Amino acid sequence: MPESEKNNTVDDAQLQFTPSGQLKHLLTIRGLAREQIVELLDRSQEFVIAEGEAVVRSTALRGRTVANLFFEPSTRTRASFDLSAKRLGADVLNLDVNTSSRKKGESILDMIYTLQAMQVDVFVVRDAEAGVPAHIARHVSNFVSVLNAGESHVSHPTQALLDLLTIRQRKGKIENLHVAIVGDIAHSRVARSVSEALATMGVGSLRLVSPKALAPDIHAFPEDAIVTEDLDEGIAGADVVMALRIQRERIGSLDGVPGVDEYFSAYGVSHKRMQLAAPDAIVMHPGPMNRGIEIESSLADSPCSVIRDQVRNGVAVRMAVLSTVVKSLEDLHK
Ligand code: CP
Repeated sequence: MPESEKNNTVDDAQLQFTPSGQLKHLLTIRGLAREQIVELLDRSQEFVIAEGEAVVRSTALRGRTVANLFFEPSTRTRASFDLSAKRLGADVLNLDVNTSSRKKGESILDMIYTLQAMQVDVFVVRDAEAGVPAHIARHVSNFVSVLNAGESHVSHPTQALLDLLTIRQRKGKIENLHVAIVGDIAHSRVARSVSEALATMGVGSLRLVSPKALAPDIHAFPEDAIVTEDLDEGIAGADVVMALRIQRERIGSLDGVPGVDEYFSAYGVSHKRMQLAAPDAIVMHPGPMNRGIEIESSLADSPCSVIRDQVRNGVAVRMAVLSTVVKSLEDLHK
């Protein structure tokens, strides 16, 4: 892959839109205007169902094929894209990448061209390497969409949207809220994407809390984000507290990262720590969680936790994104 394609550039943001400005690929939050984010959240809300209710079904993707290509492990994202596409009436191909011909040396693009020849309309891609979703988007036919389902440490746009939807449901707004993101900011694609989305929505303050060894590259975050190693300072008065897992799979050496007990003591989001936050603060976690390390286990199951709402909203957001991009493909044919 060319070096120039390995990062989310402004070009990646522009690549997402048709000439008339409709969302055709979702590669990054960057480039999405506030109004476009609000529209996606409003559309998502239409697909939200209460626990125990029958699921919302539609025929928006009837005759369409969605291929899920997950080159990294996933539970939530993969399952929710699968269910979303099916609830919209699509055929879904969940390719087992471990037994695919990529293992025999086939390039990612040859794999995409092969599946495109079988009339796949939407590729949902998760990859450990930065730049892969945009690389695919640059090479697919004009009538095919690519959705980023998690790209290295760089970007996870549908996760950011489901986080915003969850915050909006609980708080009634996103504007002017104080949000603390706590943990391994350095290696977190969730932290990057949700920070971009929160900044676009006009959040009151964004606090990034981590030990020095897991501190963010500040150039990848909104310039007014507050970066601190002090959890008490970061969490004080926060309306939203998001705990993050240590992304061991992306860390070469754990040198400088505190051991489990020390980490929980300094950076674990706990009932005691939450007493410093706003009285009605909510606790979030994108999952998968390591209970007792970045979050106190009983806090994750407590009334202030919206972690299961995040999962439920993941299906609604992916239904909204799939129906939006497929509508854009249809309009390209007109
Ligand atoms: N939040 C998230 O991306 O979870 P999965 O890795 O299980 O998809």
